Amino acid sequence: MASILLAVLYATGTTALENGVGKLPALGFNTWNMYQCDYTAEILLEQAHAMVDHGLVKAGYDTFMLDDCYSLRERDKKGRIVEDPEKFPKGMKHFTKSLSKLGLRAGIYSNAGYRTCGGFPGSYGHEAQDLETFAHWGFTYLKYDNCYIPFDNVTQENVYGRYARMSDAIAARAKKTRSTPFQLALCEWGWQQPWIWGGRLGQSWRIGGDIRPWWSALSSIINQASFIASETRFHGRNDLDILEVGNTDQGTPPGNLTYDQAKSHFTAWALLKSPLLISSDMKTATPETLEILENSDILKISQDPHVGEGIAPFRWGRNPDYTWDPDHPAEYWTGNSSYGVVFMVLNTEDAPRQMTFNLTESWAIRAGRLYDVYDLWAHKKTGTAYRNISLELPPHGVAALLLNDAGPEPEGLEPYCAGYWQCSFPNGTYYSN
Ligand code: GAL
Repeated sequence: MASILLAVLYATGTTALENGVGKLPALGFNTWNMYQCDYTAEILLEQAHAMVDHGLVKAGYDTFMLDDCYSLRERDKKGRIVEDPEKFPKGMKHFTKSLSKLGLRAGIYSNAGYRTCGGFPGSYGHEAQDLETFAHWGFTYLKYDNCYIPFDNVTQENVYGRYARMSDAIAARAKKTRSTPFQLALCEWGWQQPWIWGGRLGQSWRIGGDIRPWWSALSSIINQASFIASETRFHGRNDLDILEVGNTDQGTPPGNLTYDQAKSHFTAWALLKSPLLISSDMKTATPETLEILENSDILKISQDPHVGEGIAPFRWGRNPDYTWDPDHPAEYWTGNSSYGVVFMVLNTEDAPRQMTFNLTESWAIRAGRLYDVYDLWAHKKTGTAYRNISLELPPHGVAALLLNDAGPEPEGLEPYCAGYWQCSFPNGTYYSN
């Protein structure tokens, strides 16, 4: 009896849904930020080709997510979703096959409500049927949004229950057809703390509303993520939303990220191990945009096969620890990786700034040791550090460092403990306090 009870408890616990898919953050392209509803298969395939040409697919961006607005406004007589023949004149199967030939797996979008946010058919009440359609079309990944929610007396469910309907349909289909389950990306905009339960249903969950291509939107997302960073793990992760890298001077109103802001954006998303979905014009991508998106040192950490968690703040910096401040989020972050101890330092001010941290502020650092410092943006070793590191950062700039042990620090360094409190001689006399 006890063991049955325990098994039930484990099954409903917060462990990630390890059904074999989505172990690492998804990398790829999403149509939404760049196109919204204004695209055709031809236009999208041009993007896919440009991704191949720029080496992005090779760099790991292997998912192509077709977001909202791909279907007709109404279902057919049998209740099936029908692709828009004007956007997909050769059919949806042809589209996913073309992607597959380029090395891209295909993802699609639907809703846990009557309609998608753009007003197209949503999957509430049609979960199994739509999944069949998506599978038949050649998709293996589903982003699931939260518009047009049925009345309470219809659902008798909360957000969790409406999303569980699709998650259950995915599990049932995989079992019945003995196929790999769909990867499920929950998008309920962080309404009901999906970081607590999202891992039971899918592999990622959006933590907030839609991103915008300017700094205040990015810093606000980083602020929110700072409080729940440790919820990310293998097979289940905070989704900080689609990338805006490359959308400077694009869109309505146009984006205005500086080069440093775009670097900070990408660094935070990658090291917090969010999905990384590009949504800017790859045909006209600038060398700076490609340099950012193809930073192999940073992508390697995002895709670390042995460490699932991302970085988390160890000090808020400008503000006292745990201060909620969308304009000035946490500035000092650390985490472990297979390649060394990771640090991210973010200057949230509008002016250049000197920023300093003690190495042992990071839980992953060993006291009393020297560390080789590798700069993940300069792509080279920049020195050997002990005790602390000081950096000069531009406005909204970032430093991303990888530290590796380089032996004991010099003898006799004072103070004898980098941490001030409780530092003691062998005979029980305090050195500090
Ligand atoms: C929003 C969602 C966006 C995009 C859009 C499509 O709710 O957050 O990422 O999918 O719907 O209509």
